[in-house]
Amino acid sequence: MTVVSTLPADTRLDLPPLQLGDITVKTPVVLAPMAGITNTAFRRLCREYGGGLYVSEMVTSRALVERNPESLRIISHDDDEAVRSVQLYGVDPVTVGAAVRILVEEDRADHIDLNFGCPVPKVTRKGGGAALPWKLDLFTGIVQTAVREASKGDIPLTIKMRKGIDEDHLTFREAGKIARDSGVAAVALHGRTASQFYSGKADWNAIAELREALPDIPVLGNGDIWSAEDAIRMVRQTGVDGVVIGRGCQGRPWLFGDLMNAFEGDSTRHQPGLGQVADTVYRHAELLVDTFGNEMMALRDIRKHMAWYFKGYVVGGELRAKLAAVPTLEVLRELLAELDAESPYPGADAEGPRGRAGSPKKTSLPQDWLSSRALNDAQQADISAAEVDVSGG
Ligand SMILES: Cc1cc2nc3c(=O)[nH]c(=O)nc-3n(C[C@H](O)[C@H](O)[C@H](O)COP(=O)(O)O)c2cc1C
Repeated sequence: MTVVSTLPADTRLDLPPLQLGDITVKTPVVLAPMAGITNTAFRRLCREYGGGLYVSEMVTSRALVERNPESLRIISHDDDEAVRSVQLYGVDPVTVGAAVRILVEEDRADHIDLNFGCPVPKVTRKGGGAALPWKLDLFTGIVQTAVREASKGDIPLTIKMRKGIDEDHLTFREAGKIARDSGVAAVALHGRTASQFYSGKADWNAIAELREALPDIPVLGNGDIWSAEDAIRMVRQTGVDGVVIGRGCQGRPWLFGDLMNAFEGDSTRHQPGLGQVADTVYRHAELLVDTFGNEMMALRDIRKHMAWYFKGYVVGGELRAKLAAVPTLEVLRELLAELDAESPYPGADAEGPRGRAGSPKKTSLPQDWLSSRALNDAQQADISAAEVDVSGG
């Protein structure tokens, strides 16, 4: 499965461990929270390849406070997860504070991240997600409350955000400073605005700018890291203290092995043949059965990973279609057996962008949202609805 690449020696990188409060993350790499992806099954697959911090899927603070069973599943961790990392989404300081208190008092997390990056219209339309940092009073209230509650258990709290709403309404500079002054352990920046969704290119210059503006806390860079070489480029170009990996590891949990190697100055890279990919898919499906405790749900979930796993590999169209509709573990086993296990790693075709892209679109916002950096009464009333039925960022 592994090969030694012929990279020039200067693509090697040595970065110190990432320090988040009392937590030392030896390899400064973070699995980005991804709703519907970064459950216990996927986190296990990823961390088996390398070091790093592996964040759960996002949970809304209200659902957690209401002890919704799905939210309790989302924040659960395997016994051998050394750092139990949970991402919270919330729009109101009181509820976010209560959710952090639950995590701290019930010893359910070792690290908490707050999500301020969701670009989805149904969220931003109510002033939530990436629209929220525009309102400085609300953003400050949420972060300060969360840090205060987390500090009672010595739990490091971080935030993850986008550049802003659009290029004319950037928020990352003030939000980064407010977060730093509130005592967060680190700030992660996805170098896109909400209106970009996942399209175009992440702006690594904004990440470099934030790194420079906040010399006293770790700044993590996020966006468009598809390979260990991309991570090296980002660190070199921006000076970040660590990298956050989202779509690049979809269908490629071994990317965390490559990243660990890169950060340890080892040029070995994983280049699995089709047989090894098939084995990983099957193991992923089995782990999902454990996660959901239900084969039907697990198999429904694995379907969305198929195109990512087999990107660039020699797999016929008909077989791809069957894999994308696989109903049971038994059928999955049969379908995977039809693949040519000897088929080699296809090279560049298996690399590069994958997953969500979308196209740029004007961000939906509450009325008069942009006219002031403070909340008015109508917006205050509206925003409490922003937390209902949210998933993803
Ligand atoms: C399917 C999917 C789900 C996501 N869910 C979340 C989430 O729950 N919380 C969050 O902060 N970001 C979420 N994101 C955004 C990612 O964490 C990350 O910021 C983004 O994908 C950019 O990084 P990348 O270019 O490495 O993919 C999600 C992204 C995708 C593709």
